[in-house]
Parts: sequence; structure tokens; C-alpha cells
Amino acid sequence: MNPKQKTIDTLLQGRSTTIQNTSGRVYAPANIALCKYWGKRDADLNLPLTPSLSVSLGPKGSYFGFQMIEDKEHQINVNGIQIEKTSAFYQRLVSFLNLFPNAEQACLQIDIESTIPIAAGLASSASGFASVVKALNELYGWQLSLQELSILARLGSGSACRSLWPGFVEWQMGERADGLDSHGVSLPETWPEFRLGLHLISTQEKSISSREAMEITRKTARFFKLWPEQVEQDFKAIQNALSEKDFKALGQTAESNALALHAMMLNAVPAISYTQPHTLMAMQKIWALRAQGLALYFTQDAGPNLKLLFLEPDRETVLAHFPELDVVAPFAE
Ligand code: PMV
Repeated sequence: MNPKQKTIDTLLQGRSTTIQNTSGRVYAPANIALCKYWGKRDADLNLPLTPSLSVSLGPKGSYFGFQMIEDKEHQINVNGIQIEKTSAFYQRLVSFLNLFPNAEQACLQIDIESTIPIAAGLASSASGFASVVKALNELYGWQLSLQELSILARLGSGSACRSLWPGFVEWQMGERADGLDSHGVSLPETWPEFRLGLHLISTQEKSISSREAMEITRKTARFFKLWPEQVEQDFKAIQNALSEKDFKALGQTAESNALALHAMMLNAVPAISYTQPHTLMAMQKIWALRAQGLALYFTQDAGPNLKLLFLEPDRETVLAHFPELDVVAPFAE
């Protein structure tokens, strides 16, 4: 049996396999890791080799509307545009839906509204898969806990397991071979002044998926053996920074964690780089501003875009230098 299916069967034991709600709409936020996940101990189940820690993006994420239809195939619209059934996006979503029992029972009209550009290293797949499992939970009336939904979301995309909660979230890597202890956990710290600015460099789809890039890095990069130690130290430093509200320590650690990740990808064979000339120019601008005393840091995922980290009192100064920045307040009411 497909290992993903085994996890699903275990979690859904004794739960409804018939449709309870024929329509609904759910939401999940995107999340940005401050201490990154890169490298799997099990590629089928998306089980990580290290823990990771993220912040959810409040209003930036995915709405997933569904309605049962009399048809033979699902219809999927993204931001109002119908998706071709032959596209990779359609296939990936439908093959995920088909993992669930009695999937053939319901053909759905699916309306996805993404408030964050798709597949450009901006965590759209994380909010996407978290919203899918929340929608299935409604459709079948399973009443699963957020922890159980996090395990299901992980099967779609690893980082999606952190998108079930607002605020800071830890992904506990777990030890079990079946992955039932590998899921997100909401952290108690809040930080009302914490800001994250999306600095878009390109919204084009990434050249290589994170799934593929992770496996190439794990198998070929010599630096990869240093990664678990880097994560262990960064993870502790970020936990400390959160409990002490030490923004400089948080920013510095998140930034060097991201840079270590991208250095490790350059060390893969063939080398992988998501960085574009404008990404580097923005990094240099941030470093120059920091040298002048501004507490501004960045992180970068599997794409050329940067996410800038700063506190509310510096918003105007940061915007003066990055006027196009899309500022997110993860802890706003
Ligand atoms: O979950 P995936 O396969 O989209 O991988 C996410 C990888 C990073 O965004 C680079 C890191 C992370 O922890 O989110």
C-alpha cells in the first residue's frame, strides 16, 4: 500500500467516508520558515531530517471553496481562472485528493483564491495543502484535530504542516517511521510589532521544485552533513530570541540560516541557485542599511524573492528604501 494512504487510513479509522457538507470555504495562511526545513528522512511521507520553525502570514494565504457538482471530473479555478486538466497544478492537486477514501464519490467545483503568488518560493503550496485538508475535513465532517490535519497536510507538501496555525509554529520532526509524531505545534509567543515584508523579485514559477532540489542537495552537497548542526544551533537561538524578544538575534539567526541553506544548494552537483541578480542587489542594500544601524534582516526560500524582517517602529524607514514592499503584520488583530 502507498505509505501516504496508510497514514490516511490510520488517521481516518472510524471516521465518516460519506459526504456531510456539499459546499464550504476554508482558509489557511502561508508560512515562512525562520529556521528552514531542507532534506528528508522519508521522501514518500515528507518526513524531515531536522525540526523547523516558521511564522504564519495572517491574511496572506489560500482560500479553498468547494461545491459538489454532477460531473465526472473536478473543476478547478485559481483566482477566477479555470485550470487545464493536463496542467501539473491540476494533476498534483487531484492526485492528492484521490489518496482519500471514496474520493470518487464527490466531483467538486474548487475555487482557490490565493492572496500570495503561486510557486515562486512564497509558500503558496504550504497554504494550499493546508487549506485542502481543512476543506476535506469539512466535506466529510471528520472533526480531526489541527495536529491530525497537520499530519495530512504534510503528505501534500512538508512545510504545509506548519500552516494550520497562526503565529510562530514549530514542526516537530518526530522519530516514528510512520510519521505520526511529525507535525506542527503552535508556539505560545506572540510579537505584535513583528513585521515581514514580501520583496518580490519575480513571480515566475521556480526553475526547480523544492522537492527535487532537496533530494539533489541531500545526495550530492558535501556541505549537507553540516546542516543538521546548523539547524540545531539556529533553532535554539530562535527559540531564545522569541522568549526574550531579542529581535536582532532573531533576524541575524534567520538570515544566516537562509544563507547557509542557499550556500549548501550551490554546493550540490549540479549546483542549484534560486538567487537572481536583483536578489543579491537587495541583500547588499539590506547589509548596507544594517551597517548604518537599521535592524533589517531577510530570509529567502526556494525562489528569488526575499522576505524582509523588521519591527513596526522601523516600517517607514524600511518602506522609504523598499517602496514596493508588501508588509505583513502576522500578529495583527
Ligand atoms: O514544503 P516544501 O517542499 O515546499 O519545501 C519548503 C522549503 C523551504 O520553503 C525552502 C523551507 C521551509 O521550511 O519552508
